[in-house]
Amino acid sequence: DETLLKEAVTQRCFYYDEIPSTNAFLLKHCEELSSGDICVAEYQSAGRGRRGRTWVSPYGCHLYCSMYWNLSQGMAQATGLSLVVACSLVKVLNNFGIHGLGVKWPNDIYLDNKKLAGVLVEMNGQADTECHLVIGIGINMSMSRAQGDKIDQPWSDLSQSRVVPSKTELTISLQRQLNEDLTLFEKEGLSAFLIRWKEADIFDGKHVKLLMGEQRIDGVCKGIDKTGSILLKTDKGVESFVGGEISLRSA
Ligand code: ATP
Ligand code: BTN
Repeated sequence: DETLLKEAVTQRCFYYDEIPSTNAFLLKHCEELSSGDICVAEYQSAGRGRRGRTWVSPYGCHLYCSMYWNLSQGMAQATGLSLVVACSLVKVLNNFGIHGLGVKWPNDIYLDNKKLAGVLVEMNGQADTECHLVIGIGINMSMSRAQGDKIDQPWSDLSQSRVVPSKTELTISLQRQLNEDLTLFEKEGLSAFLIRWKEADIFDGKHVKLLMGEQRIDGVCKGIDKTGSILLKTDKGVESFVGGEISLRSA
């Protein structure tokens, strides 16, 4: 479907059968890219997740896609962006009639409580002037048991949903939705996404723990604020925690 994909996307599409990482590719070429350009591959030999973790990226039917975006207001504005992208992904999948989806702060998409997809936002550029953003999305489409055995947490794939869009259809819709949502984000910030996030948040109102290195903080999840920090009601009242090195788990 390479030809179909290249004709349908409104910006450039770099298509590879095999690549180390679609995120790494766009980061390397960011000076020559325009907002909305995408890179798609059938296989990643070094697919990555947050904090040096691996994104299991077998050959075949799964979706590995990254999009470049130039954030004119600089890096400070980029916090909370993975939440916007997670909302975009949920909207696209809902539009295909896929339900049972949820988001886990700050970057994961779940189907029936198992991890279906992940978002990895990486950036480079000068702090205040310009920011080259690369937004990576991995979605499991149809995972064999042998492929899934390499993943060290419960996972799901789209073959478990009633409707299964083609990878090309999904990529085209995703590119359109991201263009729309990133433009909205640049104008209005994360405030424009708080309702969408709340509707999909699997931990809203639940007892959770935050893991930060050796430290563990328990509380009840109270959603997010307009910078994308997570809000937790602890013994000390409602506290906010910024992303980065934090992992959220059920208590
Ligand atoms: P957190 O983001 O809260 O720290 P996480 O464990 O989901 O949690 P991430 O860095 O977001 O961490 O994602 C990487 C993790 O996702 C891997 O360590 C692995 O457990 C899991 N993983 C890797 N490949 C896949 C895949 N194809 N499908 C589902 N999950 C995967
Ligand atoms: C996570 O859950 O940690 C995020 C996983 C992001 C995976 C995608 S697949 C396309 C892009 N290229 C990468 O190397 N990673 C992202």
